Amino acid sequence: MSFEKKILCIGAGYVGGPTMTVIADKCPQHKVTIVDINEEKIAAWQTDDLPIYEPGLLDVVKRTRGKNLFFSTDIPKEIDEADIIFVSVNTPTKTFGEGKGKASDLQYLEKTAHAIVEASNSSKIIIEKSTLPVRTAEALEKILNSNDKGIHFDVISNPEFLAEGTAIHDLENPDRVLIGSRETEEGLKARQTIVDIYKNWVSDERIIRSNVWSSELSKLVANAFLAQRISSINSISALCEHTGADVSEISRAIGADSRIGNKFLNASIGFGGSCFKKDILNLVYISESLGLTEVAEYWENVIKMNDYQEKRFVKRMLSTMFNTLANKKIVLFGFAFKANTGDTRETPAYYVAKMLLEEHANVYITDPKALKNAKIDLAEFGNRIKYVDDPYEAAKDADAVAIMTEWDLYKELDYKKIHDGMRKPAHIYDGRNILDHSKLKEIGFDTHVIGKHSDNI
Ligand code: UDX
Ligand code: ADP
Repeated sequence: MSFEKKILCIGAGYVGGPTMTVIADKCPQHKVTIVDINEEKIAAWQTDDLPIYEPGLLDVVKRTRGKNLFFSTDIPKEIDEADIIFVSVNTPTKTFGEGKGKASDLQYLEKTAHAIVEASNSSKIIIEKSTLPVRTAEALEKILNSNDKGIHFDVISNPEFLAEGTAIHDLENPDRVLIGSRETEEGLKARQTIVDIYKNWVSDERIIRSNVWSSELSKLVANAFLAQRISSINSISALCEHTGADVSEISRAIGADSRIGNKFLNASIGFGGSCFKKDILNLVYISESLGLTEVAEYWENVIKMNDYQEKRFVKRMLSTMFNTLANKKIVLFGFAFKANTGDTRETPAYYVAKMLLEEHANVYITDPKALKNAKIDLAEFGNRIKYVDDPYEAAKDADAVAIMTEWDLYKELDYKKIHDGMRKPAHIYDGRNILDHSKLKEIGFDTHVIGKHSDNI
């Protein structure tokens, strides 16, 4: 079968995998290939045991795989054949050198750019899908276009706004698609090519065209604003715990104002995930580099508030469990950074588990999808942490249960049964505000909730 265009994605991770699968599904006229240096990952994408858990993803993969969606590790061959290349490699926070702990580590991106130049024999459109610091396109253009093959690359910024756990829905029904380009004749032509891909399922008014720098920076800013909302409501949750106010009631009251809106106002143990912290740190680093100290400090506080929220949670456990956690069995219900994903990157549960170990607690973790990643993340602690599939089993003889992830499963458990099996006094800490607190209190739990004084339950 002949295809109109050959679209390649370099990087088969949480962003590249679902995004390109949906593009393949919506554009049967194009051939979509996903490559990765990680052979195991590429092999897994070709089975029904996909390398990432995302509701609905397997159905879309099954519809497209082998028809117009392909996976490969032959990166040079696929680069050479492609008309359009999405770059979706990881850009973690630097762990060394200048900008350590803040700046983005662009080594994988740069390697990819060099791989593209080496393998290409024709001009192509290159799309930044990974989140990148503003003005990265300039560096990419420089690497790509300083070739002596007489070929030209147009660099487009098309950041991905999907959230994990709802990726397929977000990709199929995006609030907006952002496509930034150079505003030259060539740049605009390349931009239109990408617009035409999305037009297969996204209405034109939801496709935002901008210059390439606005597009790059918008992604960082969107994540910074979302994270800021969580830190803002979490700061208020601390205030609520010392007054008679209830943070859930506050969220409802302020969210009813259409200017504020009711989404992203759930107080919690803190935000996790691969994006928020990394992107804000990146924003802080860029601002510092430009001498914009006040701007840098402003955004850095969003992260400080998040760290404070995690620490506060453990401190509260300590103070309500008679100032000692040593040898107490504490069970974390959930380890994923949010529900409906197995992803544990930057999960608050990791920091909580570490702090509990520092207090010499016996830590048990249960999670329906994230135990494999939890074991990898916490490998350094060996058998000081126990991993248990069944939450009832995990909670047996425990002193405390702490809700870390808002899995629906945890809302539906029989807490009477859990209470019966625990040591008394049995404590429960709802780090996600998802349980029926007055019922828990009735059962006999010492109940502790984010943003609510225990006397008010
Ligand atoms: C985020 C952005 O939402 C998405 O647009 C971007 O592309 C990537 O980063 P993601 O990290 O997958 O997506 O999940 P998100 O739903 O934003 O949640 C991030 C964290 O915030 C989670 O730990 C979640 O539990 C927490 N959160 C979210 C809260 O604590 N309270 C809320 O009200 C909402
Ligand atoms: P994200 O959440 O941004 O998708 P992931 O870490 O899940 O991040 O995915 C990034 C993917 O990019 C990984 O599977 C990694 O193996 C892949 N990758 C990194 N560098 C390269 C490279 N030079 N060539 C091909 N794939 C790469």
